[in-house]
Order: sequence, then structure tokens, then C-alpha cells
Amino acid sequence: MRNLFLSALVATFACAGCKHGPKAPSNVIVVGEYGSLTGSEATFGQSTHNGLSMAVAEINGAGGIKGKKVQLVNYDDQGKTSEVGTAVTRLIAEDNALAVIGEVASSLSIAGGQICQQQGVPMISPSSTNPKVTETGDYIFRVCFIDPFQGYVMARFATNPKDKGGLGLKRVAILVDQRQAYSQGLAQYFAEALKKLGGQVVATESYQGGDQDFSAQLTRIRDVKPEAIYLPGYYTDVANIAKQARGLGLTAPLLGGDGWESVQEIGGAAVQGAYFSNHYSADEKRPEVQHFVDRYTKQFGKSPDSMAALGYDAMMLLKNAIERAHEGPLPAWRTSVRDALAQTKDFQGVTGKISMDKDRNATKPAVVLEIVDKHTVTAATIPPQ
Ligand code: PHE
Repeated sequence: MRNLFLSALVATFACAGCKHGPKAPSNVIVVGEYGSLTGSEATFGQSTHNGLSMAVAEINGAGGIKGKKVQLVNYDDQGKTSEVGTAVTRLIAEDNALAVIGEVASSLSIAGGQICQQQGVPMISPSSTNPKVTETGDYIFRVCFIDPFQGYVMARFATNPKDKGGLGLKRVAILVDQRQAYSQGLAQYFAEALKKLGGQVVATESYQGGDQDFSAQLTRIRDVKPEAIYLPGYYTDVANIAKQARGLGLTAPLLGGDGWESVQEIGGAAVQGAYFSNHYSADEKRPEVQHFVDRYTKQFGKSPDSMAALGYDAMMLLKNAIERAHEGPLPAWRTSVRDALAQTKDFQGVTGKISMDKDRNATKPAVVLEIVDKHTVTAATIPPQ
């Protein structure tokens, strides 16, 4: 039903005010962006937008792409699947975007990706890690690693002996957000990796993103005395869960994934000493990182998180592909950009070297960060399997 509805919507927009279908404007390259600028995952969309805008300003400052300026058009989807259809459809049919960048949350990238695939528009997700995102089809790419790897990273860090830089733990409880493809996938991949590494899942409990009371699940978790609790959710829920867990006397270390980004700013004492896997760390010594961190901090007054870095990388990688593609009218130009994206090899990004594999995913190392005060410090770097 949803797909039928969306294609009807696209058809209506595509024909409004134009007799011969949409045309690309001749003097600019329109890049579309959809993200959560408001809502409970607002930092996801805001940080990504900062990174993207910085990249666009740098590209245009240096003369644009093949002499054309980039125009970034962005819509707020409020972090809601129901808003994604309208946002992506407008980008394609009204704004004539050559390519689309988005989303952060995997469930939303899956929704937006279905429209881009159906319309033949290349889409790059900067930071959605669930495998299903790029499985949607051959127009859908990402510049980040995927969750089977991310789940393994934290399972390995948890089980590794202390003298090998890990936590030396075996018995872990999991609390998963049933509403997010990201959370469900990550919980599953973490559990599989943990078992392979000799660990044990001692409890699996669930919630729905936005819930306020986690006491029933946390009490059951407390009863089985886990050595750690894995929370593969997004930061607003994770901060609430962490506070309630500490309130119930649960002192086991908390572990999580990239969806925790920002939790250090709102989780207070409850998240001190917790660990999460992530895409990059602003304290990495690589020159690309330090150069990016300096410029971003000057412009936005705070250090860039991983979504800002991935947003920046997504735009720069798209520029690189557009340079290699054959320019022409839509929709052929989109197809050519798609082909160029698929051939990306050894692109040097802020978040590491990016090559597209045959499934249009990037294979990259991950970092494990520890929360110290309102900041994070790198506890480990884990290479691809
Ligand atoms: N990887 C998360 C997802 O797929 C989104 C995310 C990426 C959140 C990076 C924070 C930082 O849903």
C-alpha cells in the first residue's frame, strides 16, 4: 500500500508544472538531503547537516564541481518514517536532485531508499548501519561500516581479556528497541558474535523507542546479575535507561553502539565509564581528522561527532563520483553518477579510506569510545574482520 501511494505521489509531483518531466537546472547541481533536524534524534540530523554544509561550502569556495555550484536542499523528516516519503519525493520530483544524502537512522534510510531506488536516484546514507539499507537496490550506497561488524566489535571488546585491552566479561544482558531496525539488527549481531567468542546472553528484554518507564525490564535484568548490559538503542532512550538502571542499583558496565552518539551530553553520572562503538574519534592523530576537527570547531564552536564527519565524507565522496560521471540531462546523469559511485576505490575520507564493495557498503575500522565526563576517549581501534 505504502509503495503504491508513494509512486502515485511521485507521479503527481513530477508532472506538476512541467510538460516533459523534470529537468535538471543547468547552472547548479542540486543535492538533496533528508534528516531529523527536530524530534528525539535531532542531533543526528543537525550534526549531519553541519558536516554536509561545510563540505558544500568548501566545494563551492573552490569553484564547484566541473564549474557548477552545488545547491544543498534539505528537509526535516522529524525522525519519523511517515515524513520521509514526502521529503524524499519532493527532493526528487520538485527539486530535481541529482543525488540524495540521508538518513542517519536505518529504518528511515530503508524507507527513503525504497523511493530513490524506484525513481533511479542515487542515494548515499552517511551513517545507517543496518544491512537492509543497501539491500534495497543498486542505487543505494553508504559510507559507513555495517552492523554485523559493529556487533562483533563490541562483543570482542567485552570478552577480550583485560591484559589484551578488553573488559574480560562473559555474561551480558541485552535491552533492545523493538521499533528500530538498527537496534534489532545490532542486538542480533552482537549476540551471535558474543556466543562465538565464548560469552553468554543472560537476558534479552525490549522496549519501544520513546518509552519512559523501563523498570520492569531492568528489574528482570538485575535478577540475573549480568556482568554488563548491552543497549543497542538511540541516545535519548539510552540516557533514560542508564539513569533508571543506576537508580535500581544496577552497577554493571553499560555497552552500546554508534546510536549512543550525544549520550555523553545528557546521560550525566549514569553513563560515566560506559563504552560504545563508533565510526571515528575526534582525538585520532591522522592529519585528515585533525584538519577537519580544526575547521569544524572554528565554524560550529564544538567538536564534530561521527555523524558530522560521515556527512562531510558522504558529500565529498559524491563530489568525487560526479567528477567521474558523464554529465547530461536527467535521468541519464543520475545513472552515470550511480555507476561512478559503485566504482569508488580508496577514497580518503575523514572517517578512513572508503571503497565500495559489491553490496555498496564501505569496509572500515571501528573505534570503541569510553565516556569520561561529557566527552569520549578512544579505548580501542578494531580493524575490519
Ligand atoms: N547507525 C545508526 C543506524 O543505522 C545511526 C547512527 C549513526 C547514529 C552514527 C549515530 C551515529 O540507525
